[in-house]
Amino acid sequence: MCGIVGYIGNNQAKDILIKGLQKLEYRGYDSAGIALVNDSGVELHKEKGRIAALEDAIGKEGKGTTGIGHTRWATHGAPSRENAHPHQSISGRFTLVHNGVIENYQQLKREYLADVNMASETDTEVIVQLVESFAEKGENIDEAFRRALSLLHGSYAIALIDKEDNDTIYVGKNKSPLLVGVGDDVSVVASDAMAMLHITKEFVEIMDQEIVIVKQDGIQVKKLDGTVVERDTFTTDIDESDTEKGTYNHFMLKEIDEQPFVIRNIIQKYQDDDDGDIKLDNAIRAALNDADRLYVIAAGTSYHAGLVGKELMEKVADKPTEVHIASEFLYNEPLLSKNPLFIFISQSGETADCRGVLVNVKEKGYKSLTITNVPGSTLTREADFTLHTHAGPEIAVASTKAYTAQMAVFSILAMDGARAQGINTGFNAINELGLIANAMETLCDQKDRMEQVARDYMFDTRNCFFIGRAMDYHVVQEGALKLKEISYIQAEGFAGGELKHGTIALIEDGTPVVGVTTQEHVNANIRGNIQEVIARGANACIISTEATKEEGDNIVLPNINELLTPLISVVPLQLISYYAALHRGCDVDKPRNLAKSVTVE
Ligand code: M6R
Repeated sequence: MCGIVGYIGNNQAKDILIKGLQKLEYRGYDSAGIALVNDSGVELHKEKGRIAALEDAIGKEGKGTTGIGHTRWATHGAPSRENAHPHQSISGRFTLVHNGVIENYQQLKREYLADVNMASETDTEVIVQLVESFAEKGENIDEAFRRALSLLHGSYAIALIDKEDNDTIYVGKNKSPLLVGVGDDVSVVASDAMAMLHITKEFVEIMDQEIVIVKQDGIQVKKLDGTVVERDTFTTDIDESDTEKGTYNHFMLKEIDEQPFVIRNIIQKYQDDDDGDIKLDNAIRAALNDADRLYVIAAGTSYHAGLVGKELMEKVADKPTEVHIASEFLYNEPLLSKNPLFIFISQSGETADCRGVLVNVKEKGYKSLTITNVPGSTLTREADFTLHTHAGPEIAVASTKAYTAQMAVFSILAMDGARAQGINTGFNAINELGLIANAMETLCDQKDRMEQVARDYMFDTRNCFFIGRAMDYHVVQEGALKLKEISYIQAEGFAGGELKHGTIALIEDGTPVVGVTTQEHVNANIRGNIQEVIARGANACIISTEATKEEGDNIVLPNINELLTPLISVVPLQLISYYAALHRGCDVDKPRNLAKSVTVE
């Protein structure tokens, strides 16, 4: 969702801010803007649409060595130039960017700003007008800023500049991500470290309800009551090249291709150097062992990984597990067991729906574990334990390598849980993951074949169905999500046996149906379901394994442990979606209306 950058240094800020915003494009946005402080005051530029449109509008203008920038994903008010950030106070003295949602903005407007004519429909604008109104009453800027923030209910990451002071950016944060970076005679602000890696790798974490007074030669962290807080810096291990496309046209294809490396990386990170077996933190092992039931909470693709995770936890580690959509769990909590362990799965570690659940379960004193790709993210900081998926930055909005990494980490968790209880699983997760990495490589090498399947089944269709049973049912739900989010083809994933209870009515001549069959015990059943749709005119595409294949199947996967086949059966589905979207001229990496990091409920 919205992205924030800021810079104070010796160089002109414009290009640095624009580059930073480009690095945040992956989060999803519909307008962008920057503001620069210079000798003539504040220069403000904002445009609806892509960053390229903003750059065109700025042209040769844009002077100043201090500035802030923003990409907006509309919540309050349509995507437009007026609603784009930065927003300015009435006198033009203060300029501000914001990520998050201010729940009480209407009330604040009524109470404090009744005589102010707002220039936008946003919740954000009240913040900058509040700062100005408090500053006008004689408070210094630090006080006015802290006072304004202490009135806000909701989530925010904020950066504010003052026309009369070109050496300070005031930043504040509550529930929305924001980092401050420090370098040699330079300071930066960013929603995500990767936006400012071209300036520094040293960052400072900001906690909720803290502000930071950022100057070129140093920073000061304070609580909202003004107490000064000491905070060390950390060095991010993200490599700048991880955030570049390299020779690829799209991040999505690059990230699909990276999956074998990610799996090998996970093996390394979770393997004990001494005995070569899985190594999990003792505290996590104990928490898992103590729990009488696991509650997996996630959204979107991460939820689909959770469905596979549940199967692994129950079938391998004998642990009763439920999987819940975070936004549903948040307002419709099921009956809980006596001693639950909550597992939050989130690529970004920032998903607001998950965080809402985490806040609630912490209040009740339950233990929590986050499985995430972003160390230092909100869910990581707030949960008791974290398992890192080590997939490297995932930039394409459509999640691919993060999904397979989440399932791989679940397989490690399940194996460890089994071992802790003395259960003989008959397989070794490390060996199996090695085979999976090889199988993924084989599949990634068959791009021509995947493109052909996309051509034969998806290029011109309006809709598409995916069916599977058992583990395959979970994967087809992910396959359908992948296809719809990037190609805009209406796609749904169903349990094979469920079609004749309603959905089969939608099958017409030529309707594409992708059947996935990797589970031997239901191979005959799903093939029966495929015959039922063929009999009604469907254009059926079958993905099987060496163990389940029949003549005429479109894609045959290498044999691996059946329980872990989702890690490889999703690869053709990802590639087919990619080629379908490409052919249909869609913006593969930045599909419409979507954001990478969903920081509002
Ligand atoms: O960052 P998270 O894993 O918590 O995000 C959850 C979903 O928003 C995400 O998986 C979304 O469904 C992806 N765009 C799917 O490709």
